[in-house]
Amino acid sequence: MIWAANGFNWARVREIPPDALKQALAMGYLRWSRSLARYAKGADVVDVGCGMGLHGVGFLAEGANSYVGVDPEVKPRSSIMKDLHNGKRIDCGWTPEALMARMSRFEMIRGLSNDLEGKREFDLATLHNASEHLVQLEAVFASVHRLLRPGGRMVFSHHNWFSWNGHHQAPKTIDKIQPQNPEHTRYFDWAHLEGEFPADSYVMTKLNRFRLSEVRALTEKQFEIEAWKPTLSTPDQGAGRLTDAVRKRHPDLSESDFTTQSVWVVARKKA
Ligand SMILES: C[S@@+](CC[C@H](N)C(=O)[O-])C[C@H]1O[C@@H](n2cnc3c(N)ncnc32)[C@H](O)[C@@H]1O
Repeated sequence: MIWAANGFNWARVREIPPDALKQALAMGYLRWSRSLARYAKGADVVDVGCGMGLHGVGFLAEGANSYVGVDPEVKPRSSIMKDLHNGKRIDCGWTPEALMARMSRFEMIRGLSNDLEGKREFDLATLHNASEHLVQLEAVFASVHRLLRPGGRMVFSHHNWFSWNGHHQAPKTIDKIQPQNPEHTRYFDWAHLEGEFPADSYVMTKLNRFRLSEVRALTEKQFEIEAWKPTLSTPDQGAGRLTDAVRKRHPDLSESDFTTQSVWVVARKKA
């Protein structure tokens, strides 16, 4: 009953194995779905770039009609999933296959969103910490557009490459800076914007490095933006460390390019 008191959809929660719900809570997977609850209720949800995680448990708890996560990294028989609190992979005791066997409205599919086109339709598409990783962002947005029913929404949070820790490498917070460590000096205090990185490195292959204005323009090609909510970096994420020397090295970047940690976007499918 505690779950009903928390505002979850009791009918849906009863379909979720209690231990899977506990794991989802413990690993931080009930927060994103909670922030999208008003869009998720009664919706068929597709989670593009779902990773190995339990966001789907949260969406069902919020009353989604169904959940499909799609990602090339889905491993149907692995129970090693990411703990969102610290990014560590842990054995949560549940594989995608086991979850699918217990919940008829829950699917995790190894593949790309394109694989679902023409077969499935959705009311809500979500990308959690995924859009900054999609090198073919425009193509993925176009695919999402095709997957959505008329009036359907796409909601995503985008981590800004131009923020202090937009590189996704150590140090991610200022307390972790090792000033003598060359693996840190190439990234922190916006050094990553000037760094020369091998073509096969993480920052070159796993991050698209779009300006927020570009993300907005790509979104607006096929969606009406209903909400665009930037979150500024906090002091532990580098706020207050921007200097005139950095500004001078990047005259093309605005203050908000440097200081916006992420942006939350709600966008409605254009006809
Ligand atoms: C940082 S992870 C985020 C995973 C998950 N959404 C989360 O909240 O932890 C980004 C994911 O995007 C996936 N990805 C990259 N390109 C993709 C594509 N074209 N279609 C679907 N997923 C993709 C990657 O495999 C990766 O699992």
